[in-house]
Amino acid sequence: MNFNISNTTKVYIAGCGGMLGDAVYELFNSKAIVKATDINLTEEWLEYADVSNYNEIRKSIVDFNPDLIINLAALTDLEYCEKNQEQTWLYNALGPENIGLIANQLDVPLVYISTAGIVDGQQDVYNDFDKPNPLSIYAKAKYHGELFTQSHVNKYYVFRAGWMMGGGPLKDKKFINKIYKQIKSGKKELFVVDDKLGTPTYTKSFASGIFHVVQSGLYGVYNQVCNGDCSRYDVAKEFVKLLGLEGDIRVSKVDSDHFKSEYFAPRPFSEKLTNLKLNTRGLNVMPDWKEALEDYSKQFVKDLAN
Ligand SMILES: NC(=O)c1ccc[n+]([C@@H]2O[C@H](COP(=O)([O-])OP(=O)(O)OC[C@H]3O[C@@H](n4cnc5c(N)ncnc54)[C@H](OP(=O)(O)O)[C@@H]3O)[C@@H](O)[C@H]2O)c1
Repeated sequence: MNFNISNTTKVYIAGCGGMLGDAVYELFNSKAIVKATDINLTEEWLEYADVSNYNEIRKSIVDFNPDLIINLAALTDLEYCEKNQEQTWLYNALGPENIGLIANQLDVPLVYISTAGIVDGQQDVYNDFDKPNPLSIYAKAKYHGELFTQSHVNKYYVFRAGWMMGGGPLKDKKFINKIYKQIKSGKKELFVVDDKLGTPTYTKSFASGIFHVVQSGLYGVYNQVCNGDCSRYDVAKEFVKLLGLEGDIRVSKVDSDHFKSEYFAPRPFSEKLTNLKLNTRGLNVMPDWKEALEDYSKQFVKDLAN
């Protein structure tokens, strides 16, 4: 059954203060009536609601009476999650359970964001049907959220994202901004791992993908990443090139042992995904990762110039 989003459709977005929330809010707010919440109030358009507090999140959602719920809320720092396991289960696993139950009560579709990080890296590339085997606490809790959604929520979309790129210098908590901060601080040599493989995922395109797929009525689990794959080293090289700094900054390959005290959470060797279902159903709006990075880099070029 198709579901058309119009300027009278009400969309509730939980955990909307982060890097993906930035893109999802911008797109959905231009097409529909949005209520956006988070525990980290980074914008004046956000209201407070904690997905792990059933009564609080239920009241926040029910008061709005949405036609669609999108849950972006999660703790996303893998090392923080290893060190704060109970909080991770509450936010990343109980939170999705709470929102799933509320979506059923209101009989509305739910979007849950899962991660490529739920695989164990024993195979090269993973399609939508390959079996996950999460390694870190972050991934275990995220996978619990996914499984609960799949088995208990009546109308759901699970989108699995890869290495997220988005939010710009202010909101990006991940790889691109970590590289950028080193460049901005004056580093002339960057050490980057070449033994971690994955698929970058541009938040702007990912938001468009959600917008497109939720109107299809084709519920289920979808890998949704940029096309093509790479190592962290490939991404850093390309980013430095796009910033026009190839001649000034050297990118040196290291293996993960180099960062083992800083990044101690277990990570799969390969978390490359393919969008098999989106491609087959003609629903894949994701660009190639280099094209996406080219667009995303413009924000950093601008910031560097200031
Ligand atoms: N970033 C990635 O590379 C990546 C990859 C695959 C999937 N994902 C998934 O994509 C979704 C969006 O993540 P993101 O990349 O936008 O990360 P993000 O920038 O960390 O945004 C997540 C937001 O959720 C908030 N939050 C955490 N716990 C919450 C709670 N109990 N109730 C309400 N809000 C809460 C966070 O607040 P704080 O800032 O206070 O933590 C943050 O503002 C998450 O489900 C994440 O697991 C992310």
